[in-house]
Amino acid sequence: MKISRRDLMKYAAIAGGSVLLPVAAPQAAFGADPNSRAGSPYTLPFRRPPVLPPVRSDGSTDYYQIIAQTGTQQFIPRKANTTVYGYDGMFPGPLIRQRKDRQSVVRMINNLDIPMSTHLHGMAALPEFDGWANDISQPGYYKDYVYPNNRAATIWYHDHAVHQTATNVNLGLAGMYIVYDEAVDNTLNLPKGPDLMGPGPYGPNTNYGPAYDVPLVLHDKLFDRRGEVDFDGDPTSLDDGDFKDMFGDVITINGVAWPRMPVERRKYRFRMLNASISRSYELQMTRGARFTMIATDAGYRSSPATVRRFIISPAERYEFVIDFSEFPIGEEIKLRNRSLPNNEDYNKTDDVMMFEVVSDPTTPDTSEVPSTLQLLPPLPVLLSQAQRTRELRFGRDFVPGNPVEQWTINGRVWDQNDMEANPPLEGIEIWNLVNNSGGWHHPIHVHLLDFMLIDRNGRPAEAYEQGWKDVFYLGENETVRIIGKFGPHAGRFMFHCHNLVHEDHDMMRGFQVGNVSTNPSSVVPPQPYDFNNPPVL
Ligand code: C2O
Ligand code: CU
Repeated sequence: MKISRRDLMKYAAIAGGSVLLPVAAPQAAFGADPNSRAGSPYTLPFRRPPVLPPVRSDGSTDYYQIIAQTGTQQFIPRKANTTVYGYDGMFPGPLIRQRKDRQSVVRMINNLDIPMSTHLHGMAALPEFDGWANDISQPGYYKDYVYPNNRAATIWYHDHAVHQTATNVNLGLAGMYIVYDEAVDNTLNLPKGPDLMGPGPYGPNTNYGPAYDVPLVLHDKLFDRRGEVDFDGDPTSLDDGDFKDMFGDVITINGVAWPRMPVERRKYRFRMLNASISRSYELQMTRGARFTMIATDAGYRSSPATVRRFIISPAERYEFVIDFSEFPIGEEIKLRNRSLPNNEDYNKTDDVMMFEVVSDPTTPDTSEVPSTLQLLPPLPVLLSQAQRTRELRFGRDFVPGNPVEQWTINGRVWDQNDMEANPPLEGIEIWNLVNNSGGWHHPIHVHLLDFMLIDRNGRPAEAYEQGWKDVFYLGENETVRIIGKFGPHAGRFMFHCHNLVHEDHDMMRGFQVGNVSTNPSSVVPPQPYDFNNPPVL
């Protein structure tokens, strides 16, 4: 049986809890095609998400407005106008670039036919603005989210609606958000350049950010025979009653299948986000090109690390510099995905994008990668301050009320009134993330705070993982130990697997920092939006 997206919504509404759908027989007509119908890699031009201008600004705050709505765009060579459910009707959503320590207010208007909750992943927001899964903006509602921007990092906003996050993000609800610290950036002298301007959705001089500081939103997608986003055709997809994962046969960067990016013979800084529903990648480049890693999820590393390959699982961010001056004009360097276990591979999922060296630099490249980026607390110092250790087991279990196995944390599933942990405000804790299944890996994300990875099965973190992070790749049969300080806010927050199919079914739990036990959904509820008489922002 085939279940349409609308049916899926209907089931979701009826089920009220986990979306439990009948097992669908694999359908060849709609399943991922090993010879992707999308077209050939490296034919479409590279594109950047446009920078969202604020509606207005005052001394402390920039006010932004985003309408979640339908739009069309070209994802794949074969079709120019695939429908997307996106922030301002595009995928990825517009790029928000904000200065550290200025406040943002983002008005998020739901003009779609699905429930939404918006989370800014990597921001230490108050609980009522953190995208609590049950804090739903129904169609026709809006909510003003307040963000302090108190640390500089590459973060992202995406949907977090309870039990529908995978579907909603697959529809297109994800975008990048950069908090930058101008003083630090000016001192570091990393590749940047003047802002690129050009025609775009926000006018003829739409800003696309600094020329040599480039966002890369990585996301695999499945398209049906008409070239529309496929929600239900993949035999391993959302509706198979297995809730395992959702893999696409097309790899996109900034919403373009396997793009081709012209580059000058100079250094570029890249900010990569894995916005995939389930897919983890191990990336490497052809021609012996190397990544100089400069930042992890939550900001700069202490010093750069040069690697030939790195793993990036859903929701992780890595920033790196590539120096194209090492290559002659005309060189083509491919960014490729080496397969990781328990990802579903298709013919072209090892292709990601291509850099084509087209010219000498237009102005001399005076940027550099300094040997010190930021002072970070040494791990032994943090460890000596730990007050408590907890164990969190990520598994698969039968839970009461569900006829099929669910993804679980310590044997339990999402319950917005039941907290898995209650660390004190400012408490420093070690969390042992345990995955004793050989069959699965889980990217584990904790809201609110950043952690450092202590060790993985007793071995030190990979070179590229060293620094503040909020997502940890928990591989098959691995135990990953992390340490962090629970703050800066008290209240209730979520932690979960960021394979969004696992999160929805139901590998997510709450934790409460300090003694503030208010349900975040009740603090600032979304309001109805009158499109004819819009409320003043
Ligand atoms: Cu990126 Cu709880 O989310
Ligand atoms: Cu998982």
